[in-house]
Amino acid sequence: MEKQTIVSGVRASGKLHIGNYLGALQQWVELQNQGHNCYFFIADLHGITTPFKPDELSQNTLDVAATYLAAGIDPEKSVFFLQNHILEHATLAWIFNCILPLSELERMTQFKDKSKSHKENINAGLLTYPALMAADILMYKPSAVPVGEDQTQHVELSRVVARKFNNRFGKVFPEPHTFMRKPLRIMSLADPAKKMSKTGDEAILMDDSPAEISRKLKKAVTASEAGHKSPGVENLFSLLEHFGSKEEVAFFHDQQKQGNLKFSELKETLAKDIAVYFENFREKKQELLARPDYLAKILGQGADRARTVAQATLTEVKQKIGLL
Ligand code: TYM
Repeated sequence: MEKQTIVSGVRASGKLHIGNYLGALQQWVELQNQGHNCYFFIADLHGITTPFKPDELSQNTLDVAATYLAAGIDPEKSVFFLQNHILEHATLAWIFNCILPLSELERMTQFKDKSKSHKENINAGLLTYPALMAADILMYKPSAVPVGEDQTQHVELSRVVARKFNNRFGKVFPEPHTFMRKPLRIMSLADPAKKMSKTGDEAILMDDSPAEISRKLKKAVTASEAGHKSPGVENLFSLLEHFGSKEEVAFFHDQQKQGNLKFSELKETLAKDIAVYFENFREKKQELLARPDYLAKILGQGADRARTVAQATLTEVKQKIGLL
């Protein structure tokens, strides 16, 4: 196996849900354990592009940190840090802002969606979000960026940035590709036309209690007829494929084919499977949250490791573009 450099992050804007887990964290842990050179960080600077409260931001950041570790990110194997601790990210983002055409930023789907849903706060950071994300990525010169499907457009844009920079100033950056085991977009339980997101009651959180998982799944939109295929039902099947057994998947597919799929039974099975899957995780996360000093120490050590690489990249960039 050729050792690759891998970079990815999650915004610190709320507790992580099972879409974040399947789209990001689960693959990260696999890549880390395969021995790749991994950088995983918490995008707290991206977390402030949408409305936030300061005390919630710091609480969410610690929560996400405990989530990474409880899900299997090992700070001995991966470089694990907070984005805001590495000042070089914001500097490189500024440089990229001066390279990226406004039109590239304005056509980003996430910018269009978020400016619709946060009409009261369409700030400039929301627009230049992908420049910071390109900086997060390119700083560590990775070959792959493991993300869910919704972030592929941003990773593509980081390739555009790398190309533009290299063409103009000489080669510094590789063009990273998106890493996905298979394209993955877990949908909202309440509105299966939308992706599952950190806000609202339509997401199953990784640390939801078994009762909470069951309550949320009971309300999930399905279809009017038992044999019918609908986006809501497809979403439940996709979750069952990830969290259930092969036998369960085959059993419910058979029921569906015969036109007598019982949604309540499918939901109960899925609720049980998800609750069991995250049982150890819930316990570990609680233990970690009770040790904020330990979390701070781990994040400090990770930042020291990331900073060494970030400083070297920024020095190279500055030399290329003539900044003294
Ligand atoms: P964020 O916090 O929105 O999402 C974190 C990761 O979870 C994936 N994801 C999903 N996957 C499947 N189904 C869903 N419903 C779902 N919702 C979220 C996302 O694709 C992502 O992989 N911009 C990034 C954070 C970021 C970043 C980076 C990522 C900042 N800098 C550099 C990679 C590299 C974001 O919004 O993540």
